[in-house]
Amino acid sequence: MLHYEFIVAQNPEEAGKLAADIFQEILLAKPRCVLGLATGSTPLPLYRELIAREKAGQLSFAQARSVNLDEYKGLGPDHPQSYRRFMQENLFDHISIDPVNTYVPDGLTRNSQAMCAEYEKKIETLGGVDIQLLGIGHDGHIGFNEPCDFFPAATHEVELEEITRQANQRFFDSIAEVPTAAYTMGIGTVMSARQILLMATGADKADILSRALLGPVTPQVPASILQFHPHVTVIADQAAASLIRR
Ligand code: PGA
Repeated sequence: MLHYEFIVAQNPEEAGKLAADIFQEILLAKPRCVLGLATGSTPLPLYRELIAREKAGQLSFAQARSVNLDEYKGLGPDHPQSYRRFMQENLFDHISIDPVNTYVPDGLTRNSQAMCAEYEKKIETLGGVDIQLLGIGHDGHIGFNEPCDFFPAATHEVELEEITRQANQRFFDSIAEVPTAAYTMGIGTVMSARQILLMATGADKADILSRALLGPVTPQVPASILQFHPHVTVIADQAAASLIRR
């Protein structure tokens, strides 16, 4: 029995629209909300829908603030594969959000520890995250929190798993170019969001989604911790939801 809201969409486009409904509700209720954002293929239909809805006058990002989950270590805003660049190209450049109100961990920092501590402080100063958007990795990672022996609390540097580097290789010319480390919000950071929206689309996510939602809560499947969050909405397309029986 799932204690969180589980919504099944026909396809990724519909998943994007249903997720946009949730974002729209929050933006209308709290224009200065703090949006926790994610990169990857999964959120793209959501971002396209949000851009269209703002252009249609249905919502506004003018007062919103945003914090992103993660960034590759060593990639700056100008690098085509940096997550800062991804966010600019796929969302920020097309909406009214003030660029100074968008935060992504600094991949080029010379002082990782200080940058991570400042990122945590920034989220606190903003008043915490109203809704955290998450995709899920094939190994159950959320952000770049990879399977390990414990749940990391705060924003930190991580070594990337080979499975994750291989999954992300499609965006780079070769595997050698995929960074080996990244900065990510911790599991504690993610769990402190007031609401969490987990999106999963595609048949290749069916197995990990069912393990995360229905299996034991373990740091070996980082997303399984979401079973302990009081306000989680899962939006999956039929392919990703195929192993969840309710
Ligand atoms: P994807 O990535 O949306 O590109 O599948 C999800 C993730 O790795 O968190």
